[in-house]
Amino acid sequence: MAKLAAAILAVSAAFFIAGCAGSSKFDDLFKPSWAFDHFAYDNQGEVVNMKLDNFSGAGFASKSKYLFGKVSVQIKLVGGDSAGTVTAFYMSSEGQFHNEFDFEFLGNKTGEPYLVQTNVYVNGVGNREQRLNLWFDPTKGFHTYSLFWNRRQVVFLVDETPVRVHSNLEHKGIPFPKDQAMGVYSSIWNADDWATQGGLVKTDWSHAPFVASYQGFEIDACAVPGEVAAADVQKQCSSGGDKRYWWDEPTVSELNVHQSHQLVWVRANHMVYDYCSDTARFPATPAECLHHRH
Ligand SMILES: *[C@@H]1O[C@H](CO)[C@@H](O)[C@H](O)[C@H]1NC(C)=O
Ligand SMILES: *[C@@H]1O[C@H](CO)[C@@H](O)[C@H](O)[C@H]1NC(C)=O
Repeated sequence: MAKLAAAILAVSAAFFIAGCAGSSKFDDLFKPSWAFDHFAYDNQGEVVNMKLDNFSGAGFASKSKYLFGKVSVQIKLVGGDSAGTVTAFYMSSEGQFHNEFDFEFLGNKTGEPYLVQTNVYVNGVGNREQRLNLWFDPTKGFHTYSLFWNRRQVVFLVDETPVRVHSNLEHKGIPFPKDQAMGVYSSIWNADDWATQGGLVKTDWSHAPFVASYQGFEIDACAVPGEVAAADVQKQCSSGGDKRYWWDEPTVSELNVHQSHQLVWVRANHMVYDYCSDTARFPATPAECLHHRH
């Protein structure tokens, strides 16, 4: 019994330590990609504020592309009336057959809860939305949103609690995103045609600017130099020999027991939509839904 407990502890410790690479300054890892005048920096550049007004949204992107690893950022979402706005934090590769892992934070009227929509694109195809509400008010303080990615799974985490796992089911003939390097992005924009209560609630521009704040930027991932050919990207970020990457360790090939329980809790108490159970939209259950344990 003690042995088992110790083993579980060791596994969680491995995952935890791995996530503590230490945060970097925004400028070390990212750069604004559009609407430079919609950025403001506090605290010697530790905190980045990105705003949406009736002229423009804004966005930033990582300077490098990555294959596998863990990417985290702390976000404080738009306070007060955020209806119609969407703030996104995501990883994406480029091109028509791109892969993408998305967190999209859908704003709401003052006092009504934000929704978190996640999605996974594989080879250019998305339509894998899940939606959850949060167990805290994401506008009152900074919370950590992370994407953890290896050859076996993509895990979406909120304050280190897994809220979604997309598993590798290639052995069932289902493609898994593992050979395209991805950039890390965030943006804020007006999406009042769909975001809040299905598009019924519009952005109230008298409440602009809408500001999302960021700090604690962490990327512990395999950076892929731009000149590496697509075919060599996997080789570049493979373990073996003296190149050993922590995300290939067996201990992080799937959730540990504690994390599995956390995911069950999130799904039972906070999930409000899962494409896997939307039979009106998908009369034939999407293939990966038949095999995913969750
Ligand atoms: C906004 O609040 C309403 C009412 O509480 C809720 O039904 C909805 O899911 C919330 N989120 C969005 C994005 O509409
Ligand atoms: C944007 O909003 C401001 C403040 O509400 C208003 O004065 C201005 O006319 C608006 N501009 C546009 C282009 O809608």
